[in-house]
Amino acid sequence: MALQLTAWPAIPGMCVLPRRWPHGRQFRVRAAWHGLAMSCLWQSELTIKVGLTMFKCFYSAAAALLLTLVSALCAPVAMAQDFSKAAVVYFTTMSNVPDANPEYMGAVKRMALELGNQLNIPVMEIIAEKPYGTSYKETAAIARKERETNAFPNLATTPDISKYDIVFVGYPIWFRAYPRPVATWIKSQNFTAKRVFLFTSYGESGWGSSLEEARTEMHGATVVPFMDLRGRELLKLTDRQIRRYFEKALNQIR
Ligand SMILES: Cc1cc2nc3c(=O)[nH]c(=O)nc-3n(C[C@H](O)[C@H](O)[C@H](O)COP(=O)(O)O)c2cc1C
Repeated sequence: MALQLTAWPAIPGMCVLPRRWPHGRQFRVRAAWHGLAMSCLWQSELTIKVGLTMFKCFYSAAAALLLTLVSALCAPVAMAQDFSKAAVVYFTTMSNVPDANPEYMGAVKRMALELGNQLNIPVMEIIAEKPYGTSYKETAAIARKERETNAFPNLATTPDISKYDIVFVGYPIWFRAYPRPVATWIKSQNFTAKRVFLFTSYGESGWGSSLEEARTEMHGATVVPFMDLRGRELLKLTDRQIRRYFEKALNQIR
């Protein structure tokens, strides 16, 4: 292969010159040598280019391998959370509606208490100053109006998160968002440099716009969705089942 590549440019040098050219033989011989020299140059340039490409490929592959190894080794360290300065803050329909039926309300409370137990961290509750209605219809009417007007209802309790680096924030979904008392609470706190794990309970719609809204309103925080569960299903689980469920979820972020 190398011989062929080296030899071919010499061929026109030898053939193209007319046989009867004055001093034709010397010309032909010289042209052949020139051709040979040119092809050697071309060949060596090609060899250098191929060599360089191979060199680059080899080192890129080695660097990628090294990076993968380093990130794999560092990953558990980066993921590890120190929960010594963590707390749970939650809002639940149950504490804000007089005569709430615990059979279908209080899902967020159950989630919050389980988190507090497993991590052995404080659990604080946001409660609105003015209770909502006694029926779902009444509560829904008030909550809908608050949402439509972006109201900031006054609070009876305002958990203070200034001492904590990590905060688990839980709420039910009301009209595809977090209830407005949660908005009041968010506005009252400084979230700079905090890590926030969100958890929610809902009927059908999942997170709705609450994730995006939390990310926008919790200025300076890293906001991560931690858990979302359908309220009715969660309330059917036994304590043991909930404990297992949370153990698994917490192992993902420990
Ligand atoms: C006023 C009101 C509005 C609700 N709006 C929604 C909704 O938009 N989407 C949804 O999936 N569930 C909605 N739900 C259902 C609750 O999110 C669900 O029942 C949740 O599990 C309640 O948890 P909690 O009892 O801890 O507050 C609403 C409930 C109420 C009381």
